[in-house]
Amino acid sequence: MKKALITGATGGLGTCLAKEAANRGMDLVLVGRSWEKLNALKDEIAAETPVSIAVYTVDFNHLPNTTQKMKHIFSKHPDVELLINNAGLGYFKELEGMTTTEVTEMISTNVFGLTETTKAFLESASPKAVLNISSMAAKMSSPKSSVYSATKAYVTQFSNTLRLELKPKKIGVHVVHAGPIATPFFEKADKTGEYVKKIDRWLIDPTKLAKQSLKMVKKNKRELNRPRMMKVGARFSVLFPRIADFFALKVFNYK
Ligand SMILES: NC(=O)c1ccc[n+]([C@@H]2O[C@H](COP(=O)([O-])OP(=O)(O)OC[C@H]3O[C@@H](n4cnc5c(N)ncnc54)[C@H](OP(=O)(O)O)[C@@H]3O)[C@@H](O)[C@H]2O)c1
Repeated sequence: MKKALITGATGGLGTCLAKEAANRGMDLVLVGRSWEKLNALKDEIAAETPVSIAVYTVDFNHLPNTTQKMKHIFSKHPDVELLINNAGLGYFKELEGMTTTEVTEMISTNVFGLTETTKAFLESASPKAVLNISSMAAKMSSPKSSVYSATKAYVTQFSNTLRLELKPKKIGVHVVHAGPIATPFFEKADKTGEYVKKIDRWLIDPTKLAKQSLKMVKKNKRELNRPRMMKVGARFSVLFPRIADFFALKVFNYK
């Protein structure tokens, strides 16, 4: 694929995906909220790889703007072939006590932003593949992530259904389910820093995950699940939901 658009490019996994796509020779359209961070990333990639890079700021919290801005970006770059829906955030809190702003932010970015970006891509660009960054939270339940997990379950089911719609057009839809990744995600998700300390030894390397994700797209696989043990856990929780609830509450309750 010749050109990719990546949302949330200023973040941990998004930055790694941008670098990996450039290494693979793809021209880039990088979308993020911070103009400074986008330009710094553009300069860093341009110093190492001879690809063309355009940057745009979009804040998915501003709903009507999202649709308008993404349509505008694709009208400027109708040759984008790969869309990477990476932007996302979570707040690890119980629903009682979560602010409406936090709920809105997660749904606006993880659900609405991703949906409208995909729609604009399909309508105005040259779609060959969509790569959606979901989470193991879509498949496995754990306390303090009801809204985040539900937004990621949306991403997974959206991807699985869209894959069927796009099959006749030979447009691939690929989805990544990852456990905890070593990125700044947790600075927002859990401001106490306690969660990340407890799961530190299991953190996934985002550079490695970015490589594996783009390899999956190239091989036209449906989904990537990392770590593999969590994939087994996810299957187990479908077969034995009561036992899985016990483990989620009593054994793996790190949040
Ligand atoms: N880290 C994990 O453990 C983990 C595990 C599974 C799945 N994921 C998923 O992986 C993806 C990448 O996250 P990450 O771990 O790389 O976290 P990150 O470092 O916090 O990066 C998230 C990116 O999304 C952007 N973003 C957040 N809110 C936005 C909004 N309202 N509008 C536009 N962009 C927004 C961020 O921009 P700003 O810098 O401006 O906020 C940032 O570029 C997310 O979809 C996340 O849900 C993460």
